[in-house]
Amino acid sequence: MTEQKQTKMPSKKNRSLLYQSQKMEALGTLVAGVAHEINNPVNLITYNIPLLSKVWQDIMPVIESQAIDKKNLKFGGLTYDFLKENLHKLLSDTEMAATRVAQIIKDLKNFSRQSNVYDIEPIPINLAVRNAVRLAQTTLKNANVQLEINLAEDLPQINGNIHSIEQVVLNLFINAIQAINHTQGKIKITTGYQHKDGQVFISISDNGKGINPQIANRLFDPFVTDKQTEGGTGLGLSVSYNLIKAHEGEITFSSKKGKGTTFIITLPIAEKRARAKILIADDDTFIQDLLIEAIANRKLYRVENAYNGIEACIKLGSYRPDLLILDIFMPEMDGLEVCRAIKNDPELSDLKVIITTGFPDHPKLKEVSKLGFDTVYIKPFSLNTFLEEIDSLLS
Ligand SMILES: Nc1ncnc2c1ncn2[C@@H]1O[C@H](COP(=O)(O)OP(=O)(O)OP(=O)(O)O)[C@@H](O)[C@H]1O
Ligand SMILES: [Mg+2]
Repeated sequence: MTEQKQTKMPSKKNRSLLYQSQKMEALGTLVAGVAHEINNPVNLITYNIPLLSKVWQDIMPVIESQAIDKKNLKFGGLTYDFLKENLHKLLSDTEMAATRVAQIIKDLKNFSRQSNVYDIEPIPINLAVRNAVRLAQTTLKNANVQLEINLAEDLPQINGNIHSIEQVVLNLFINAIQAINHTQGKIKITTGYQHKDGQVFISISDNGKGINPQIANRLFDPFVTDKQTEGGTGLGLSVSYNLIKAHEGEITFSSKKGKGTTFIITLPIAEKRARAKILIADDDTFIQDLLIEAIANRKLYRVENAYNGIEACIKLGSYRPDLLILDIFMPEMDGLEVCRAIKNDPELSDLKVIITTGFPDHPKLKEVSKLGFDTVYIKPFSLNTFLEEIDSLLS
């Protein structure tokens, strides 16, 4: 086994994921140290500036009340008249700059926090999306961009921190707004559930300028930005990356120059939904085994089987599936009779049924479809298409 393990090299994709996560960890440690060192002096500045401002406000009336020659009065080489006009503004500009540095430190701390997302609880991602969109209202209005939101109903919750997810969506949303450099700007935010792997997703698409290819492969690294002149720090995506990793999720993007960009976040759900139940009624053991294995493998549904119509009818009552996969030709009681029994039972009115048969032209099939059972698969059918049909019926 050890030998096997050693010879099994990680795939190229896994290697690059591993590399990315090791790099992020190292950067995180470095950044946490820097943030910590800068934090205290910046705090000192942000606390002292308002005090200085207040001192100046108190001094001014005292100077005004003195009958001295104010024209030649100078402090630090600056005339009193100039200071009277500008000192307040100089101090408030300095305060603004210090607040910006404090914000950057906060982002850096967030970035370096790695996997420590606090206050984890079951949360609905749609709420995080709505909050983020609300927070970005002013930016959105100023940019004159059209927004389309499609939030899937009845999504399972994720285990996470609502503020973290909000922050990620906000970062991606603001980036999307900033990427639009024409007047026909459109942003689309979609949420949904992926049956395949039990994950929810948030997708944010824009029709902006697309990601600059020169930075595309470093996009999640801190300080990677092409918005230096507009005051971008290049921390938005690296913070987002770490927050999503801390939720055991993934964040990916695709982009076309001049056409737009889509970011997709996928997150594992808090607990898998109660698994839907499927009953397979077919007398052909080969088909039974094939379907049971394919369906059970996906771990999304519970499966039971029946070898004829009578057994199927009994299990419809006791096991009560959400979906019945029904063969037409079976001994004792055939599929058509099962369909009639279903029609006569109001308890089964919402039961989904897929008919399978090897005889597409048989009159019984027409009878079945007259009863309203018209999802039919003619054997042999493609297993993948069949599984997709099951997913869509049970979603
Ligand atoms: N939707 C997008 N379309 C095009 N480029 C994008 C998009 N999102 C991100 N980028 C590119 O990725 C870079 C990094 O984004 P990130 O959010 O990390 O930093 P920033 O937006 O530059 O600055 P900050 O978010 O810290 O204010 C951006 O400068 C931009 O070049
Ligand atoms: Mg950004």
